Parts: sequence; C-alpha cells; structure tokens
Amino acid sequence: KGLRSTTIALLLLTVLQKSECRVQFSKASIYDEFDFKGENRVAIPECSNVARCAIFVSISKEAKYKEIYDKIQMSPAVARTWNYTLNQFAALRNAATKEIDPYFIVDGADNPSSETWIYNDNVDKVAAPLVLYAVDLSKDDFTPSVFDAADVLPGVSRGEIVTVISADPFTMIVDVDTSTVATVYMTGFDNAVVKGVSPDQCRSVLQNTVGENLSIQINGPIASIVFSDTQG
Ligand SMILES: *[C@@H]1O[C@H](CO)[C@@H](O)[C@H](O)[C@H]1NC(C)=O
Ligand SMILES: *[C@@H]1O[C@H](CO)[C@@H](O)[C@H](O)[C@H]1NC(C)=O
Repeated sequence: KGLRSTTIALLLLTVLQKSECRVQFSKASIYDEFDFKGENRVAIPECSNVARCAIFVSISKEAKYKEIYDKIQMSPAVARTWNYTLNQFAALRNAATKEIDPYFIVDGADNPSSETWIYNDNVDKVAAPLVLYAVDLSKDDFTPSVFDAADVLPGVSRGEIVTVISADPFTMIVDVDTSTVATVYMTGFDNAVVKGVSPDQCRSVLQNTVGENLSIQINGPIASIVFSDTQG
C-alpha cells in the first residue's frame, strides 16, 4: 500500500515538473497582466542593448478592455515623443498566413534608446489579460512563426516550429500526416528544442506517436510545436 502511494506521488511530481518552466528564460520573457498591474512602467531586458529582438503580443478580444490596452504602450525611456500601444502590437498580422508579424527592435534603428520600456498609463495602473513574448534574436537569423490562438490557420508544414500565444486558455488540435512527429512545449520557440539542448532545460509536455493527431488543453499563455521526422 505504502509503495503504491509513493509511486503515485512521484508520478504526479514528474508531471508537474515537466509542464513547468520559468517565465523568465535565458533568451526570452513572457509577461502577463500581473507584470503590469500597479506598475508605472516595465523594462524589457530581452529588447534592451541587444542587436535584434522581437515582440509578439496577444490580447483579449473583449471590447471592454480596449481602452486599457490603448494605455499600455511602448515609449522612449525619457521624453514620451511617441507611443506604440498593445492594440497596435496585437494588430500586427501577415495578411496571407495570419501569423503575428514580429515587432523587431534593432539596436540603433527602431529603438528609441538602448532600453525598451512598456509604460502603464492607466488610472490606478490597472491592466487586462495579455501575453507579451519578447525574444532576444541577436544570435538567430530566422523569422519565427508565431500565431495568436484566435487565428491559427491550418496547414503549417513540417520541419517548422510553430508557436501559439493567447491571453486566454486555449485548446490546440494538431493534425499531423502519417510520418510526422509533433512535440509540444509550454514555452516559446526559444526553448522548443527536440534534438540538442533547450537553453533552459524545458522538457516537452506531449508528443504523438507517428500516425496520431494531438489535442491538448493549454492552460497557459504559450505553447510551441516542433514538427519533425523522428521521436525525441
Ligand atoms: C504618449 O503617452 C503619454 C502618456 O499618455 C503622453 O503623456 C504623451 O503625450 C504621449 N506622446 C505622444 C507623442 O502622443
Ligand atoms: C488527423 O486529422 C486529420 C485532419 O482532421 C484527419 O484527416 C486524420 O484522419 C486524422 N488522423 C487520425 C489518426 O485520426
């Protein structure tokens, strides 16, 4: 009897550890509304003093939050000579694929200074459901494929990493052809590594066996799927 309960506890622990990872990673951070509540402004270190970074935003589609998102905005660190709101970030879309167009910050170009800040200009510093995924891409030259869960298009092809972000919990159904393995991570693409080392040792939460489709309830802001030929 004692042995059995120990086994169950260990199994539970394993599952919990597997699905958890830090929200601040070595090359990225995932911010939510609680990072902005009560704050005058939030520093984005992944996008400060780096050669190249990308920001991806998902917000709730509920109209009641629109004004709150309008007052959470990127702005220069000193003089507020321009503002770029969460509504503007969240509207960035590739018209054909519906992928989020990354907002790239390249040091010395779009970057107002070497530091990137997002201000909360709301009365009482309130916030609303949001996901802000910031990734330092200084050492990567690829353009990542990131979707808002609200408008994922079917037909992503294998060999790619697809990341999905959402301000609300979401269900992913991954249809795969008979020779593709799909591996799901509860992280951004920066840690979705099947072969080789995930920078923060994040482990996958689910992988299909060849010929199986996947359906997974994501109770978090972000998930990445790696499509490959082989089981990891
Ligand atoms: C940017 O937003 C701040 C806070 O609402 C405001 O004081 C400032 O005038 C805005 N800047 C511009 C150029 O609109
Ligand atoms: C996976 O999903 C696709 C598309 O919905 C479907 O055609 C296929 O039969 C499914 N495969 C399995 C093994 O259920």
